Amino acid sequence: MTTRSLRLLALVCVAGSVLVIAQSDVPTAPVPDPLVMADGSRVKNASDWRTKRRPELLALFTREMYGVAPPRSPQMKFVVFDKGTDALGGKAIRRQITVLLKGDPNGPKFDMLLYVPKKATGRVPAILGINFWGNHAITSDPGVRITTNHVESGKNSYADLTCVKDGQATEACRGVNAAQWPIEAMMDKGYALATIYRGDIDPDTKDGFDKSLKAFYPELQGRGDNFSTIGEWAWALSRCIDYLVTDRAIDSKRVAVFGWSRLGKAALWAAANDERFSAAISDDSGAGGAKLFHRGIAENITRLNTVFPHWYDENFRKYNGKDTALPFDQHEMMALIAPRAVYVASAQDDANADPEGEFAGAKAAEPVFRLLGGKGTLPDKWPAVNQSVGDDLAYHVRTGGHDVKPFDWDQYFAFLDRHWNHR
Ligand code: GCU
Repeated sequence: MTTRSLRLLALVCVAGSVLVIAQSDVPTAPVPDPLVMADGSRVKNASDWRTKRRPELLALFTREMYGVAPPRSPQMKFVVFDKGTDALGGKAIRRQITVLLKGDPNGPKFDMLLYVPKKATGRVPAILGINFWGNHAITSDPGVRITTNHVESGKNSYADLTCVKDGQATEACRGVNAAQWPIEAMMDKGYALATIYRGDIDPDTKDGFDKSLKAFYPELQGRGDNFSTIGEWAWALSRCIDYLVTDRAIDSKRVAVFGWSRLGKAALWAAANDERFSAAISDDSGAGGAKLFHRGIAENITRLNTVFPHWYDENFRKYNGKDTALPFDQHEMMALIAPRAVYVASAQDDANADPEGEFAGAKAAEPVFRLLGGKGTLPDKWPAVNQSVGDDLAYHVRTGGHDVKPFDWDQYFAFLDRHWNHR
């Protein structure tokens, strides 16, 4: 047999059921069927999914991987400290909000930046994104509050952070990451943008616990399903939608959550948990995001739990070295979002994230989208570069490396327009 004829079909084989999920040159271990319950019984209809399988999977991922998050506090308050200032050369109205998670200015809190298109006549849909280097870094708008939390320094491929002095962002840091955030295009399209800084939630280091918002919830530590950093970012995104539903400029039925890389992992988990998000966009989320661990290639569970031990919960460590035997996988996490819309995007040279494995993850979630009436189908085979495939569950692999590029946003805009039937 030639290598080509050895091309393997990745199969879902559980309780006697076999589903073709994606064709690939990489042998993927059989992944669990999202439509088979833990007791072996099959999900027969949407009601079985909603009432039985979805809660079962949500509990499984919470316990075994992402950890628990605190409930929303009845004391939570929003302090709108920038109430609606003209910004972006007249294209937007800017608001900034401090979310006081326990209602106490000395307690856990973070800032959200919101731009609403000025030309809007009614409520507008919104993209809620979590950013890497500060709200002030995604735009040069001088009115954006500069974070006082730690920011990493030095120059990377996405932002020149030599502006950061002693861990503190300076005026010179405004807009250093603007290339990944086409805010004006969003305004032109009639979308609002809300964003928060990951470092206002968690310093994102191995020993950063004391400076994270998690430290305000000590009761959720010292247990296998402890509140984790990815869980914390996702939970903060839910607290943002708590605000957005109160803002009269926003159509809260049309809010998409977006994240790149580790923040794409968080965006998916946010949408999996919180059904108020009508869409989720995962850009290069890779391992612990959209990719299937069962592929057994690229970044694996041991690496995630060693290099980033704060990202997932303690229970997840028992799966170190067991990627291909994991009793669940990320397609089932993404299936929790169905039939709401999900866009999974990859970059061809992003080997650490296993682009083909991200596609395989989306494809393996498809039976659930189909069961629940999601539109469109993904091809059986990993598509060629630079073409968007699917509909409510959509995918592309772009040429180039780990990044967020204009090509990516063009696809997201088309996807959101389609899903929201906007214009
Ligand atoms: C590392 C990590 C990835 C992660 C990425 C990022 O490369 O291995 O899992 O997605 O950082 O967040 O930039």
